[in-house]
Amino acid sequence: MVEGLTKSFGRQVVWENVTMTIPAGQISVLLGPSGTGKSVFLKALVGLIRPDRGHIWINGHDLATCGERRLYELRRLFGVLFQDGALFGSLNLYENIAFPLREHTRMKEAQIRRLVAAKLELVGLVGAEHKMPGEISGGMRKRAGLARALVLDPEIILFDEPDSGLDPVRTAYLNQLIVDLNHETGATFLIVTHDINSARTVPHHIGLLFRRELVMFGPRERVLSSAEPAVRQFLNARRHGPIGMSEEKDVTELAAEALLGQDPGELPPIPPQLTPSGGRGGA
Ligand SMILES: Nc1ncnc2c1ncn2[C@@H]1O[C@H](COP(=O)(O)OP(=O)(O)O)[C@@H](O)[C@H]1O
Ligand SMILES: [Mg+2]
Repeated sequence: MVEGLTKSFGRQVVWENVTMTIPAGQISVLLGPSGTGKSVFLKALVGLIRPDRGHIWINGHDLATCGERRLYELRRLFGVLFQDGALFGSLNLYENIAFPLREHTRMKEAQIRRLVAAKLELVGLVGAEHKMPGEISGGMRKRAGLARALVLDPEIILFDEPDSGLDPVRTAYLNQLIVDLNHETGATFLIVTHDINSARTVPHHIGLLFRRELVMFGPRERVLSSAEPAVRQFLNARRHGPIGMSEEKDVTELAAEALLGQDPGELPPIPPQLTPSGGRGGA
């Protein structure tokens, strides 16, 4: 689906030659140190940023090279949850969630109300529709952003650090919600996260962006047990490895590490993958 994708800003190459097939209907996680271009990657996928080279194939169309009209159509296939939920501060939750319907469809109010109610229920926000974004917790804002991302029934849902700023309990609830939504909607999920625990337990597939390339992308268990140094370091939150304080360690640091012979140690066991909770709404 993504083929040879390359993006630079001026002389700075963000990533190059990224090739991956994001498995349809499943959850994939994209990891990487800060500044490696994860957000830029998500923006390229939805056509907000045009890559320099490469292709993004969706339903037989190349989103990387198509014209504006086609791009507008293809964008409807995506739901995006931006980092802070990106809600409109002056609109209540109902109007925020209804926004894409008003923007992209000519639905009557009764139908809009029905769809918004269904999404509020899906994300557990029934009764909060009249609240303003400023009045609710960060976790609720994310769920409202999620309801808005879901309202056009997208085929592909992109999440940019959905768990940033959430406490561990809220993160656990959000992760379960993500797994349940994936199960219920059958949509393709791509999640950018920093949370190693989420990355280890939520997805079917894991990828790592590092040093301007996609170092690895594969099934969760294979990536979790990988001996590739950057993958091993990142997924186990270790200091030992090629990733340093300022993203990349220099040669002297790595040589010193090798000399000290710090052992990366045994890998912890692979945790079980989160399963859909079921039962909710009898689905
Ligand atoms: N619109 C832009 N113009 C120029 N540089 C950008 C733009 N957006 C992002 N960048 C640069 O691209 C790099 C990757 O950014 P980003 O995707 O936000 O990283 P991440 O999400 O992995 O932390 C950063 O160096 C950032 O400064
Ligand atoms: Mg980012």
